[in-house]
Amino acid sequence: MALWGGRFSAGPAQSVAALSRSVEFDWRLAQYDIRVNVAHVRGLEAGNVIGGADSQKIISALGELSQEVECGKFTYNSSDEDVHSAIERGLIEKLGPLGGAFRAGRSRNDLVVTDFKLYMIDHIMEIAQTLTLLVDALNRSAEEYKDALAPGFTHLQHAQPINFGHEIAKHSHAFLRDIDRISDWLERNSFSPLGAGALAGSGLQPHPESAAKELGFVGALANSIDAVSDRDFVAEALFIFSVIGIHLSRIGEEFTIWSTTEFGWAKLDDAFSTGSSIMPQKKNPDIAELARGKSGRLIGNLTGLLTVLKGLPFAYNRDLQEDKEPVFDSIETLQVILPAVIGMIETTTFDRERMARGALTGHALATEIADFLARKGIPFSEAHETSGKCVRLADSLSLEVHELTDEQLQGVHAQLTSDIRTLLTGLGATNSRTSVSGTSQSSVSAQISLLKVTNQVALKKIENARETFSRMMSI
Ligand code: ARG
Repeated sequence: MALWGGRFSAGPAQSVAALSRSVEFDWRLAQYDIRVNVAHVRGLEAGNVIGGADSQKIISALGELSQEVECGKFTYNSSDEDVHSAIERGLIEKLGPLGGAFRAGRSRNDLVVTDFKLYMIDHIMEIAQTLTLLVDALNRSAEEYKDALAPGFTHLQHAQPINFGHEIAKHSHAFLRDIDRISDWLERNSFSPLGAGALAGSGLQPHPESAAKELGFVGALANSIDAVSDRDFVAEALFIFSVIGIHLSRIGEEFTIWSTTEFGWAKLDDAFSTGSSIMPQKKNPDIAELARGKSGRLIGNLTGLLTVLKGLPFAYNRDLQEDKEPVFDSIETLQVILPAVIGMIETTTFDRERMARGALTGHALATEIADFLARKGIPFSEAHETSGKCVRLADSLSLEVHELTDEQLQGVHAQLTSDIRTLLTGLGATNSRTSVSGTSQSSVSAQISLLKVTNQVALKKIENARETFSRMMSI
């Protein structure tokens, strides 16, 4: 059904209808559209535009429509331009001309952005909750491997040994920041555009503040032109989704490389890997690769939206219809990739012996020699130089630096006394790094405990907000 036509001599050309039609994708907004319309009808009743009895009839018809949408009994048809026209058609089918009364005092311009904001609030909270499951899986894996040693890298070269729990736990911090960004987003974007009308506000909907509160917003936006034009909240959300994508891509890269024959650290579970159609022996880390690859489309969706917004005139322009598909795509991408990554993390096991064997290679304990001398009051430049000489000596003897004998070490520097031995082991080196962010077992244990508490607090907050939201949605 078209919501306009009076001033036209004919309907739109078929090609125009095809171009204009958004209902195939914006139907995802149906329940939010119904809910926003209920709040709007109450506003019209308060403004005496619709009588109490009519308002009741419209609201209960909207309630019925909501159930029919839910069970699939009502859906859009080929004549509906967008979700708003489909819902209005549904109402008119139930109520006759009264079904067209609720359109007074609002425009699709303020309606669509209000529907969309509610859709986004709902789904961004769901993503935040799924992220807490991911953090939980990472925390559990970190806990399990907090006594395992592995080589730590810089420039993809062996640098210093690290506690492997520490290596896993770093990802929890990244995703907790994403959850925090979502929490900021929710707070900043808790104002309703409804009541802005086409662009100039509404004379028939006198209390947009009440409608805003009814819809769970803190209040109504203060400038109607801004309200229908602003898509910062969309860009910000797409940025958050892109950063989540980047974080997933970095995990993906790690699991891919860790499961190679050369590394042989990670053993992926059969249920979380895939085979080859030609090479029977293959077990591929496709989930990790898809986690890495999907970040491309998440970033693409952000740049696409930003390009639509750049230089766009204010108030509503039809370009703004292009704001929705990137968001639907990003959300739906995360909805498929996150559970698979969570499963992969939960089921992957790591080869402790192999990682520990590699931990000391590449002269990974050279820094311990320099630190040992620095603790004895030797200027670090000299300590560094001395350790470098030890590396050179070890290299010339085809040894690792920690394999030099006490005599050989003392031959390089008299202060390299035998008590250095306690530092020249994997555990000695890692456990000496007891600073808060360090890789010692005690620091990592404390870190994981804090991660667990932070994640629990975040989860509680999201659960409460989601409960409030779903109560608001019921009519
Ligand atoms: N489908 C449109 C959108 O998503 C709804 C708003 C249409 N407004 C208009 N003035 N044509 O933006």
